[in-house]
Amino acid sequence: MSMPTLPVVSQTEPSRAVLDSFRIAIAKRLSDTLPLTLEQAFTGVDYGKKGEDFTVALPRYRLPGKINELADKVVTDFQPNEWIESVVLDKSFLHLRVNTTNMIREVLNQVDSLTHNTPSKLPEYGSNESGKGKKVIIEYSSPNIAKSFHVGHLRSTIIGAFLSNLYKASGWEVISMNYLGDWGTQFGMIATGYEKYGSQEALEKDAIKHLFDVYVKVNRDAELDPQVKVEAAKWFKRMEDGDEDALKNWRVWREMSVKKYEEEYERLNVKFDVYTGESKVGKEAMDGALTKLEEMGLISDSDGAKRVELEKWKLGNAVVRKKDGTSIYLTRDIGGAIERYEQYKFDKMIYVVSSQQDLHLAQFFKVLELMGFPWAKNLVHVNYGLVQGMSTRKGTVVFLNEIIKEAGNVMHEQMQKNEDKYAAVEDPTMTSLEIGITGVKIQDMAAKRINNYTFNWDRMKSFEGDTGPYLQYAHVRLASIGRKNPHLMPLPPASEIDTSTLAQYSHARDIAFLLGTYPDVVKVALKTHEPSGVVTFAFRLAHAISSAWDVVIVKGEEDLEKARAKMYLYECAREVLAAAMRLLSIRPLDRM
Ligand code: ARG
Repeated sequence: MSMPTLPVVSQTEPSRAVLDSFRIAIAKRLSDTLPLTLEQAFTGVDYGKKGEDFTVALPRYRLPGKINELADKVVTDFQPNEWIESVVLDKSFLHLRVNTTNMIREVLNQVDSLTHNTPSKLPEYGSNESGKGKKVIIEYSSPNIAKSFHVGHLRSTIIGAFLSNLYKASGWEVISMNYLGDWGTQFGMIATGYEKYGSQEALEKDAIKHLFDVYVKVNRDAELDPQVKVEAAKWFKRMEDGDEDALKNWRVWREMSVKKYEEEYERLNVKFDVYTGESKVGKEAMDGALTKLEEMGLISDSDGAKRVELEKWKLGNAVVRKKDGTSIYLTRDIGGAIERYEQYKFDKMIYVVSSQQDLHLAQFFKVLELMGFPWAKNLVHVNYGLVQGMSTRKGTVVFLNEIIKEAGNVMHEQMQKNEDKYAAVEDPTMTSLEIGITGVKIQDMAAKRINNYTFNWDRMKSFEGDTGPYLQYAHVRLASIGRKNPHLMPLPPASEIDTSTLAQYSHARDIAFLLGTYPDVVKVALKTHEPSGVVTFAFRLAHAISSAWDVVIVKGEEDLEKARAKMYLYECAREVLAAAMRLLSIRPLDRM
């Protein structure tokens, strides 16, 4: 059955978001009756609240004449068609209901065809092409070698992975980048301490932990003996000057740390295209930047060190070069951005860094802007608030692998409480780890990222409420219907499934409509850089599915046609739930 053709509206993609067609149909109705162009009318068609499909707030159009007279005109003229079923006037709002049978069929078929029939498998349902031909660098995670991996880095990792997936789903070419804190005076400290406390064996066993231990010890020494810091500064100077002897150990440390991190990121379903770091920023880029700033009269001398003056922009004054000539964090970021532009010619570069560094980011963005780089306006800081209370039962967390392990253990214990279910799990260690990680991620992305939140292990492991385990459970349950009804699987091609029998179930309608909104959920997330909208969507869908279970029943449905239609609905729902979870960097489980 094919639907009547509609006019084209810019910025819409009905072939990827079929609810756009329904909106266009509504807009067309309005523009036929009221003095509005199609595009004008379209901008006023919003999703409705509380069970309404679409709502139009008439005053928004600022049309001459009385609102109720305009509304009357629309309502009296109204004839149902293949797109729209009814219109209701409520004060100055028009609520429009789409044709149920057609909406269900169109949405499910679109989900199905974009999930199964795209040659490259990507882009799947929900994706769009708004970023086609554009390139974005997304820098995230960026822990410091030899210091702790704190929860701030975990947030950056989680949000950054989401953004990478999101930009890919929007057609962008994405370069995900990990900018390691692998340079700076602390490496002089470690080198100094390593002579006394270093052990090859401990290093090979767990480089990240060993370097941290050495760093802690040498810092303790430094408190007693000021000479330690002097030694360390000398050592770092030698590193900056490229002295091979001073760099040899450091190279090994870096490489071993990266290797370890890579394993841990893989557990989290996170991958980087590029591992770079503060050490990789070239001297030329930094020197060039300093010269230019000096020429522009923005540099002042402060006790032998150089400062850039940003007071005029309420960004303070910031040291860009130390007295001994060594570089610092800020200078490396300035030089790093210049080099990245030269290498990648990005259209946008996103830094996913805690809001504690708002000033730092604002400073170096400003410096780059003052230096006249036209691309400086394409730098974006995606910030986030603090996490409190994420310590393991043993104490404060210091390392990423501890967080991961604890998430797995906490979840494993929780699952063991239900003996029967637990006995049926194929690989409990793997499964609990995956669910635990889901729990951590969901808690992190559930609210606006700028909010601080207190991490809660009890909530993380709970199967009740809007939690990670609940979401995984919802997916597992969907995946199990096919297994429990093998006579229906695999389903015939969409063209042979009669979905019209679903129209009698309001629950089926709710699910289909929600599925239809998913492409817009992705678009909004791209605008706001917020994962929370996707999380909310996933839970709304999970709830809609869970209320459908006892009403839209597959098991025991004797009419094969009807059973297939229901199965098809659940299959599509599973695909979209899985797509939303993957967008959030979560691996959807088929069994638990
Ligand atoms: N390594 C830094 C830290 O842990 C974060 C790096 C953020 N990115 C940047 N380009 N400054 O604080």
